[in-house]
Amino acid sequence: MLEFRSVRASIGIIEILRDLDFRVDASDTLALIGRNGAGKTTLLRSIMGFTRVTGEIRFDGTRLDSVPPPKRPGLGIGYSPEDRRLFSAFTVEENILLPAQAARIDGAETRRRLARVYEILPELRDMAARPAGNVSGGQGKMVALGRALMSGTRLVMLDEPFQGLAPALAQRYAAALRALRDADKTITLIITESNPALLRGFANRTLVIERGEVSEGSLEPAGTGA
Ligand SMILES: Nc1ncnc2c1ncn2[C@@H]1O[C@H](COP(=O)(O)OP(=O)(O)O)[C@@H](O)[C@H]1O
Ligand SMILES: [Mg+2]
Repeated sequence: MLEFRSVRASIGIIEILRDLDFRVDASDTLALIGRNGAGKTTLLRSIMGFTRVTGEIRFDGTRLDSVPPPKRPGLGIGYSPEDRRLFSAFTVEENILLPAQAARIDGAETRRRLARVYEILPELRDMAARPAGNVSGGQGKMVALGRALMSGTRLVMLDEPFQGLAPALAQRYAAALRALRDADKTITLIITESNPALLRGFANRTLVIERGEVSEGSLEPAGTGA
């Protein structure tokens, strides 16, 4: 469903993504693991079209370079950036609805998707009318997840969602991801993390990114050596 062919990204003379070649199948839960600065965020941003790349990224057979970045969510791609970027003067529900409006999804479909978001994240319904500026950092992560689900009917990308979450909220967040997986077996999830232990037992596939290079990996605890 998602395929990278010889994808490179450079900033100035520095290569940030080096010759990426991999595919992700529909219904995969992919852990993208790498330490700070490895290129995780740049890779997700390249799918959204926020980072210029050479090579080909294909999504459901479509070359993404033929789709302007603002149109990509309309393909069924949802993205929750590492800095949540909620609009604090808007309510929680208005923030969740933004991608649907941006993608010009009609009213009936928007209501259907919002109902799905509230089914998976019922706590958002209770916060719906609150200004997004008044929710805690952890709650804001839930709002950002709900917002990503509004456009992410095919692919949901979550950039270090567990970063900075207190243990109880991290568990709640993981439970929401399991509910999403149970509700929709065909959706593809890409979750980045610097700590592989957090995604153990959750992801069915792991890619490791190191200095902009991607290789197959595993979430199992390392044995001896590095
Ligand atoms: N806008 C930018 N300008 C310059 N360097 C950048 C920019 N964005 C990312 N980088 C560099 O690209 C590399 C990968 O960054 P990033 O994708 O944010 O890694 P990660 O998300 O894995 O921490 C880092 O070396 C970072 O300093
Ligand atoms: Mg990052």
